[in-house]
Amino acid sequence: MQLDTSLAPAIQIRQASKRFGEVAAVDRISLDIHRGEFFSLLGSSGCGKTTLLRMIAGFEQPTSGQVFLNGVDVTGTPPYRRPVNLVFQHFALFPHLTVASNVAFGLRYQKSPRSDHARRVSQSLDLVRLSGLDQRYPHELSGGQKQRVALARALVLQPQVLLLDEPLGALDQKLRKEMQVELKNLQRTLGITFVFVTHDQEEAMTMSDRIAVMNAGRVEQCDRSSEVFEVPRTEFVADFMGAGNFFSGKVVSFDAERATVISPAGFQTQVPLRGQSTSIGDAVRFMVRPEKLSIRHEAAADGQAGMDAMIEQQIYQGLSTTWIVRNTAGERFTVYEQNHRPFNGAVTEAGGKVVLCWDPSHAVLIKN
Ligand SMILES: Nc1ncnc2c1ncn2[C@@H]1O[C@H](COP(=O)(O)OP(=O)(O)O)[C@@H](O)[C@H]1O
Ligand SMILES: [Mg+2]
Repeated sequence: MQLDTSLAPAIQIRQASKRFGEVAAVDRISLDIHRGEFFSLLGSSGCGKTTLLRMIAGFEQPTSGQVFLNGVDVTGTPPYRRPVNLVFQHFALFPHLTVASNVAFGLRYQKSPRSDHARRVSQSLDLVRLSGLDQRYPHELSGGQKQRVALARALVLQPQVLLLDEPLGALDQKLRKEMQVELKNLQRTLGITFVFVTHDQEEAMTMSDRIAVMNAGRVEQCDRSSEVFEVPRTEFVADFMGAGNFFSGKVVSFDAERATVISPAGFQTQVPLRGQSTSIGDAVRFMVRPEKLSIRHEAAADGQAGMDAMIEQQIYQGLSTTWIVRNTAGERFTVYEQNHRPFNGAVTEAGGKVVLCWDPSHAVLIKN
């Protein structure tokens, strides 16, 4: 996707904080969100996602800091004067109004000619593939259709930015997956900025250009989705993205590209620095994602790191097998192996000795 970065960002958040009594719901967050970007705020419940979204919408005043839309400071601007619209998790449709009237509702507050309304309503129902259902009432719709009405109701106002607060949270898994693809396509078609809130890392990965991972009111990392997944900067982000395999060691030597690290058990390997600085003697942590690890019954291949380990558990999951292994220092690691080998029914005994292997270029240094 081509992002237009020549203009001011769609949204700029500058050192914004929001306190509720003792709680810092949002704690000195700064973010730029580009025009036409699908941007996700990802984090567990209570980390401040909704509060940040409501600050962008204008429903919440920051305790300190500023919000800019298209380069204009809107910190004190009321919600209805901002070119943004918010879609809630619980669709909040009017039960006594038809689909068309629900969608048309916000238009009565806009200065557009009334003659235009019917056309705009039908256009936005087209966009969310609800044409023909305009005279139904909410109770005559499925969960997915209700969510589409909520979307159409926001889109009819032609916002420059659409804010979506866990909009798929109330849908079952299958519908949720379908809507993820649909929402992403819709965003591409319209070319408007989407800020999407979710606690589901897979959902964020599926849809987003960039992701901000939040923790306790702060942004831990904001990067392209693949970057957040492959190169998490902190242990929290690594854990949240399902990595969880952490190794510790001490730097024994380093050059511009990589550090050589020795583990407490005496195992030595290299870790790419990716621009981070280090010195000899530094205690470091690094991680390797489970799908980047493999287990072998013989020595590691040339150029691979190989650490002696023992099988603790084998979990057959159809598409893949998860192995839990333990090294001689008692640290535990998870290995995902795709089941692409011929099926032979073999079960590996717990306690069996293996070598835990990885390509050193897949190791990621974690900030302390
Ligand atoms: N109106 C409020 N009054 C008091 N505390 C609030 C209010 N809104 C949110 N909080 C608190 O701020 C924190 C962040 O909440 P929220 O933004 O809703 O998180 P999330 O959407 O990530 O689950 C939580 O600790 C929550 O209890
Ligand atoms: Mg929330």
